[in-house]
Amino acid sequence: MKITIRLIVSLIFVVALVAVIFSFYQVSSEKDRLIGELDRRTIILAESLQESVKPLVNSNSIPKLNRIVERFGNRERLKGVIVYDNQGNILTSTPELIPKISQPLPEVVSSITENQPIDGFINIDSKKTYIYVLPFSEEDKIIGALAIFHDASYIDVRLKGIWKNNLIRFLTLTMLIVVITLLVVRWSITGPIAKFSEWMRELRLGKGKSSQPDTSLRGDMLAPLISEVTHLAKSLSMARARAEEEARLRVQAESLWTANRLKEHMRVELGGKKLFLVSNREPYMHVKDGRNIKCIVPAGGLVTALDPVMRICDGVWIANGSGDADKEVVDANDKLRVPPEEPAYTLKRIWLTKEEENGYYYGFSNEGIWPLCHITHTRPIFRLDDWIHYQKVNEKFTQALLKEIADEEFPLVLIQDYHLALLPLLVKEKRPDVKVALFWHIPWPNPEAYGICPWQQEILIGMLGADIIGFHTQFHCNNFLDTVDRFLESKIDWEQFSVERGGHATMVRPFPISVAFEATVSDRKAVIQEKESLREQLFKEIGVQARYLGIGVDRIDYTKGIPERFRAIERFLEKYPEFVGEFTFVELGAPSRTHIKRYRDLTTEVEEMVDKINWRFRTKTWRPIVFLKAHHSHEEINRFYKVADICMVTSLHDGMNLVSKEFATSRDDEDGVLILSQFTGASRELKDAVIVNPYDIEQMADAIHLSLTMKPDERSERMKRMRTAIKEHNIYRWAGDLITELARLRTTDVAS
Ligand code: G6P
Repeated sequence: MKITIRLIVSLIFVVALVAVIFSFYQVSSEKDRLIGELDRRTIILAESLQESVKPLVNSNSIPKLNRIVERFGNRERLKGVIVYDNQGNILTSTPELIPKISQPLPEVVSSITENQPIDGFINIDSKKTYIYVLPFSEEDKIIGALAIFHDASYIDVRLKGIWKNNLIRFLTLTMLIVVITLLVVRWSITGPIAKFSEWMRELRLGKGKSSQPDTSLRGDMLAPLISEVTHLAKSLSMARARAEEEARLRVQAESLWTANRLKEHMRVELGGKKLFLVSNREPYMHVKDGRNIKCIVPAGGLVTALDPVMRICDGVWIANGSGDADKEVVDANDKLRVPPEEPAYTLKRIWLTKEEENGYYYGFSNEGIWPLCHITHTRPIFRLDDWIHYQKVNEKFTQALLKEIADEEFPLVLIQDYHLALLPLLVKEKRPDVKVALFWHIPWPNPEAYGICPWQQEILIGMLGADIIGFHTQFHCNNFLDTVDRFLESKIDWEQFSVERGGHATMVRPFPISVAFEATVSDRKAVIQEKESLREQLFKEIGVQARYLGIGVDRIDYTKGIPERFRAIERFLEKYPEFVGEFTFVELGAPSRTHIKRYRDLTTEVEEMVDKINWRFRTKTWRPIVFLKAHHSHEEINRFYKVADICMVTSLHDGMNLVSKEFATSRDDEDGVLILSQFTGASRELKDAVIVNPYDIEQMADAIHLSLTMKPDERSERMKRMRTAIKEHNIYRWAGDLITELARLRTTDVAS
């Protein structure tokens, strides 16, 4: 209210000031005009009168003078005329004037003495009267004077009228100002502010129905403020969701998920239904080994995480058969039961032509989307031809899936990763009843980074065919929603974290993926003994004598920060020379996507680095880095995990990174230190790792030193806490959460 009063008072003050100045100017010019007019009229009258009076005064004809004065005396506003002789004595006068005028009149005396006409104002009967005295002479000798008296009171009346009119005008204006100000303030300021604060209050109390204020507010003068606060509200929603998520995880952590529990849970949730999983990469690959065929498990987090789930849930896993002996082991429907040693689910293989593999897998997926989503300064390449193949292969997967689910009602489909972004919509278009979840295993960039993709909308639209889209972290969910907000016409609910488009809603949720970890070993002593002998054996196998062992396990990929890791090892040995001859780092690097030049170049770079560093520091019996470039089975990798003093995960960007979780899981001795990049999803959960910035070589070198010199108690404490975190959030919980959300979607929502 104060501001309204202040506004009104200042407006009135300004208007009053302007009114006074203008009135004053108007009055004074009107006064000048009226007096000037009166003056002119009187002079004309006096001069014409003087012509008749002068000879009569000369001849002293008083009766004639009387007649003339009488004749002139009754004109409008003329009060009268007096004729004086040269001594200032009255010769004749309008009779009414004599008693009202004191004699001698100073104006008459001055006019006769100075021989000049004089005018001025006097009061007669308390009325303002104009007097004009004109002397007249004969042969340079003054013989008399003529005084004319005019009523001038009408001038004051006129001027007062002007003041009065202007006062009325001012008062009307003031009233209008008050009313208009009150209305404008109410409509444009206090009203919207009241609505706005009500919206903010609801938001604060978590009751808000919408994360955006009423549309009527958005175009108003408060628009910039509202836009800022809307962003703030969005952040608040995100923070609240994060907090709720954490609280939920804490509560959930109270009961552990195991393979058996998931099995039981699935039985209830799926009610006998099969699960359909679709990914590019297959969980088991058959390759030729001389004359034999061997089955390998491809490297990568996706397979590591999902195979244990499928073993429990049964169902069909549809994937690209990319092994050179894959065709030889499938049945007529391109299917086989896996795992080979203990069949538990069906793998259905899809065949791609060389062109399809090039365009869809190497091209669009791995030269386009992969670098687009990983911020590692490797430029994405988008080719039209690759995009066409990407669409075709997504179609191909759709056909295969539709065939598999043909007889199922409301089937549950889990689509995996960036190779199959278009699949959700393609499936939904044909089968609206399918419950579809899309899990994105890699990071999702911010809208600016994503914006360089030429098919940005097509990809988003394809993904939004899913009922649920999962990412590893809330941060990636937020980035995704921001991206949809930027590039698509849709309705985003920041409270529910969902997108509505074309009548279909998609929930966007974090489901941090994990590994199959449920039991801990009871006999730790035996584990430690076994470890010692395994350690000796491994050093022998790699032909190195050393005290400390470090381990890295990666696909050879530029996102993994392998050169950075080796540079840190080199710096560590420079900085802490007492470890030369004592510390060896074994890198188990699985060749990956080798038809892409960037990957081949990386392999060469890494090999050259290893050579250079080893050459610099090696001794007869020791070398700092052992680079085992090959595909390694889980069993082989596990042997190294179990005995290593440190494990280094130095990804420049990583959705989750399961090596970190596998390492901790394999440490039944509760020892070993994990050095973990802050740019992995895992760093949000494994807070007891030594967290590093892989771009900071100095910091990483110090982290290696810190880890190798860490007290056994601290190592063990940290490892125990990491293991507990993983056990509480293992892959069974991930699957349980995701599948439950999917299974519980109302069938009406799905089909809408
Ligand atoms: C990442 C991706 C997976 C992929 C894996 C291995 O973890 O998220 O989708 O399967 O890398 O890569 P590859 O190209 O060999 O399948």
